[in-house]
Amino acid sequence: MTTENTLNHIAIIMDGNGRWAQERGLQRTEGHRQGANNILTIAQAAIENGIKFLTLYAFSTENWKRPPSEIAALMSLAASFSTEHLDQLNQNDIKVQVIGRIDDVPFSTRNSILNAVKKTKNNRALTLTLAISYGGRAEIVDAVNKILSQPRPSKRLTESDFADFLYQPDLPDPDLLIRTGGDHRISNFLLWQIAYAEIYVTPTYWPDFSPQDLEKAISDFNSRTRRFGALK
Ligand code: IPE
Ligand code: IPE
Ligand code: MG
Repeated sequence: MTTENTLNHIAIIMDGNGRWAQERGLQRTEGHRQGANNILTIAQAAIENGIKFLTLYAFSTENWKRPPSEIAALMSLAASFSTEHLDQLNQNDIKVQVIGRIDDVPFSTRNSILNAVKKTKNNRALTLTLAISYGGRAEIVDAVNKILSQPRPSKRLTESDFADFLYQPDLPDPDLLIRTGGDHRISNFLLWQIAYAEIYVTPTYWPDFSPQDLEKAISDFNSRTRRFGALK
């Protein structure tokens, strides 16, 4: 029986671009290109399914270990996503925001992304959060350092006080975390925020992940019993 859990926020680890390409005898970067092309399709499908927040893992703090040519391709795709899709983002009423160590991102890519953030800031249908140069541990360490740089607090922090120092404090915790590409791991994504997220792993590679696949994940989510540690 389905219970229709509340589903406001979906986070996705968009994995499998490289394998998608390699299985077709293509360069890994072609997989990244197809993957980037899929973002707006899935964002639109999220809106149609009543989702208010979609957070996508685009580039991790560990992805800097990849070959420079692959990093350059990923950075250039992030820039072109932000410029070429700007009109569509606005037409679809999608607000773009970023989490991650954006200062580590090359200037031109950072500029394009921050321009999209600025030009979409009043949109309301969906908040699309792009995790770029993002690491869950880095986010926690950055929060601690922000706290340390403040005047000495007069009281001990609560969880909610601490969460105010995360990259986007107004972003609610994800209800559902999807990983494409079949690996059952978190890879340093949203460590603080996924404390009680429902996890859904699909073997489908990100470039093939379709609106139907999203709906399958949502209906699986609706069949879960969420207890948050209590009894039900
Ligand atoms: C995900 O695809 C995109 C990024 C990590 C930037 P991968 O590039 O990790 O693809 P696989 O996992 O090697 O197939
Ligand atoms: C996770 O995928 C990061 C992104 C999707 C951006 P990876 O391919 O980097 O993760 P691992 O290395 O398989 O854990
Ligand atoms: Mg991968």
